[in-house]
Amino acid sequence: MTTKPPVNLWTSPNHARDYLGRADSIAHRSEGESALLEFIPANARRILDLGTGDGRLLALVKSDLSASGNGIPEAVAIDFSPTMIEAASNRFAGDSSVTILTHNLDHPLPALGKFDAVISCFAIHHLVHERKRALYTEIHSLLNPGGVFCNLEHVASPTPRLHGEFLHRIGYTPDTEDPSNKLLDVETQLQWLREIGFVDVDCAWKWRELALLVGRQS
Ligand SMILES: C[S@@+](CC[C@H](N)C(=O)[O-])C[C@H]1O[C@@H](n2cnc3c(N)ncnc32)[C@H](O)[C@@H]1O
Repeated sequence: MTTKPPVNLWTSPNHARDYLGRADSIAHRSEGESALLEFIPANARRILDLGTGDGRLLALVKSDLSASGNGIPEAVAIDFSPTMIEAASNRFAGDSSVTILTHNLDHPLPALGKFDAVISCFAIHHLVHERKRALYTEIHSLLNPGGVFCNLEHVASPTPRLHGEFLHRIGYTPDTEDPSNKLLDVETQLQWLREIGFVDVDCAWKWRELALLVGRQS
């Protein structure tokens, strides 16, 4: 008997382009992004962005850090979609502080050195639950002491009714929602982060299925 691989449509150019066309209009995302910026250490020198897309979140973090006068941090941005890699390459063209890597997060991260902040936005929920937890463990081992993991994520609603309401508010239905989504509740993910050894673990912001999960390396 063969097992079907989990659905992930993000390597399709149309899927990626459709997202990029509506990324700015996702309800409440800018609130979550602003909340995330508060957790990035002001003296962060190296940042890793997982599932960077066109580099939107990384650009916000870099701009916020450079505005605070602490210099420009080095960054590594990872994605596996050729369309997104091209979009991120265009965004950071001429910026030698950013390295863009093609990598499928279904597989262990390559050797990348240590980071002061690992960030991610609306990406890790495309991995199966087992891989999410394994990735969180890899992230913990990549962080310098005092480093932070900030995952602005699409999480599961507590009930089907709340899930339906969320979809309605963002213009989707259960039939049109992205089949790549593998949503998991906040509590399980916070518990995993604590078990792995992160400290100060919290859901620092939430609007319906959009949540900012944060943990620090001790
Ligand atoms: C909803 S988009 C978010 C992009 C970006 N972080 C943002 O905030 O706009 C999800 C991103 O995760 C990437 N992604 C999904 N599954 C992935 C995987 N297995 N490995 C690497 N990247 C993945 C997609 O290619 C896409 O760029």
